[in-house]
Amino acid sequence: MKIWAVANQKGGVGKTTTAVNLAGLCAAQGQRVLLVDLDPHGSLTSYFGLDPETIAPSTYHLFGGQQSAAEAVFPTKVDRLSLLPASTALATLDRQLGNRPGMGLVIRNALNELSGRYDFALLDCPPMLGVLMVNALAACQLLLIPVQTEFLALKGLERMVNTLNMVQRSRRSELPWRIVPTLFDRRTRASVDSLRELRATYGDKVWPSAIPVDTQFREASRQGLPLTIAQPWARGSQAYRRLLQELLQENDAAARQGGG
Ligand SMILES: Nc1ncnc2c1ncn2[C@@H]1O[C@H](COP(=O)(O)OP(=O)(O)O)[C@@H](O)[C@H]1O
Ligand SMILES: [Mg+2]
Repeated sequence: MKIWAVANQKGGVGKTTTAVNLAGLCAAQGQRVLLVDLDPHGSLTSYFGLDPETIAPSTYHLFGGQQSAAEAVFPTKVDRLSLLPASTALATLDRQLGNRPGMGLVIRNALNELSGRYDFALLDCPPMLGVLMVNALAACQLLLIPVQTEFLALKGLERMVNTLNMVQRSRRSELPWRIVPTLFDRRTRASVDSLRELRATYGDKVWPSAIPVDTQFREASRQGLPLTIAQPWARGSQAYRRLLQELLQENDAAARQGGG
């Protein structure tokens, strides 16, 4: 099972949108996909029509140690696409757990339990550093960092890159990561300048293309469908399709090198 995480310590940059739309593409290609909501806001959970205020079981219950991961998975409207939802109670986790040992591997262990059932898991992270982010970065094999192309885009990104560097030191193998420029509008100075600055600062860590602003993302979210399923040929869908294709190619090339 491939496990990718989508994270940035800034809200509103397109994390949930990225997770939903990549998941939709993979499911449409015939893969069994699991979306995992690790954000106490539960936007991914709401996206698919579940209520994070009342949902149970959820990713929160996995931290209690008694919940089986398989029983916390819900179906969505999309074939082959399942959801491990978030409950708003996740917001209390850091306070509850403190520094209790072993809590950084809860999600990794849960996904391990599920690895025969899914081909692909995508983790939607909260916009803050804490036990949930640490779990996601310990479990994943690739980290995607969506960055909104706007003024001060790099400010929020620095914090995320610091977090990543901290996690890299505690991992057995280095975590590959990519920056995904989002909400790009070629007509605005802010978008064009910030994309240039991103590339100048982070070089080939930046996906060479960008996800454009596309109002249809919001429409699709109202229907509870990934745009990549609702409107596969929308501009936004095409951009996510190119992103997925390139990431999979890199993934395969790395696997070939790793396997000799
Ligand atoms: N490429 C895009 N074009 C237009 N709207 C977008 C795009 N990406 C995200 N949005 C919208 O921006 C808002 C925030 O996106 P979201 O994915 O929820 O961000 P995050 O998960 O980082 O907080 C949502 O209303 C979403 O529909
Ligand atoms: Mg989100």
